[in-house]
Amino acid sequence: MSSLLQAKNVTKSFGGGIFSKEEELIAVNDISLNLEVENPKIIAVAGESGSGKTTLARLLLGLINPNKGSVEYLGKNLKDMKGKEKRDFRREVQPIFQDPYGSYNPFYKVDHVLYSPIKNFKLASKGEEARKMVEKALELVGLVPSETLGRLPHQLSGGQRQRVMVARALLLQPRIILADEPVSAVDASLRATILDSVKKLNKDLGISVIYVTHDLTTAYQISDEIMILYKGVLKEAGPVEVVIKNPKHPYTQLLIDSIPQANPKLKWGKLDISETQELLDQPGLGWRDS
Ligand SMILES: Nc1ncnc2c1ncn2[C@@H]1O[C@H](COP(=O)(O)OP(=O)(O)OP(=O)(O)O)[C@@H](O)[C@H]1O
Ligand SMILES: [Mg+2]
Repeated sequence: MSSLLQAKNVTKSFGGGIFSKEEELIAVNDISLNLEVENPKIIAVAGESGSGKTTLARLLLGLINPNKGSVEYLGKNLKDMKGKEKRDFRREVQPIFQDPYGSYNPFYKVDHVLYSPIKNFKLASKGEEARKMVEKALELVGLVPSETLGRLPHQLSGGQRQRVMVARALLLQPRIILADEPVSAVDASLRATILDSVKKLNKDLGISVIYVTHDLTTAYQISDEIMILYKGVLKEAGPVEVVIKNPKHPYTQLLIDSIPQANPKLKWGKLDISETQELLDQPGLGWRDS
């Protein structure tokens, strides 16, 4: 099996330099992750706010460099990539972020976010070809081109805007989509539709997906594997069926217990964990197969 994207024991800390007054904060602590070329899958990276999910995502995108360890794309360290290699990486690994509104210019029609990557990466030679590509990408995420193109961002719903962002990522024919909380700004009814289309991209087009979320329910719905982070440390990982159905680490158990349906009294971010802190700080269990 050859690796498509691989994080090898990456650690990233902030602050704590000689001139810094702040204490060093280890946002991501010795995490490894591997997507294989031959076996496109959906990996969820889950954990509560501040657990290091976005920092890990940024490391995987090469937007920041690790203090220790490395991230490699097709065997090449991201920090050594230049020229064409780097351009290919930028095209083949597409991020989708939480707030799609921030990615739009409110004065430009949504067409702009779709046609600009085609132009930037010279993906089509003729206007007609570009139009076909855009229409196909919109259809793949369940949008009707004639009802979507020609509109301004505020004339679409939040869910439609986010789907346009998925369509934009698709135009580049990525091998990996890295979605950081892609549906948390979208209302519940649309969440399932968007996640279904992401799952379809994985199954039908063989695109690997890293799905960053604090929501175990959707992670369970769409992912093959899950990694549970707490304070930057990997507490537990494995197939979703194994980890979610039979969690072994106290932190994973706490997360599952705090899913609103499971226990309406507990709320995200408001857990009284003082008594259980020692349990939560127990070392990670690593990868579990059963
Ligand atoms: N650029 C930065 N400078 C300093 N500290 C940072 C920086 N980026 C992240 N951190 C800190 O690292 C920790 C992890 O942050 P991160 O954004 O990765 O968490 P997260 O799991 O994505 O949280 P959320 O669910 O709220 O998005 C936090 O304590 C955060 O304050
Ligand atoms: Mg985040």
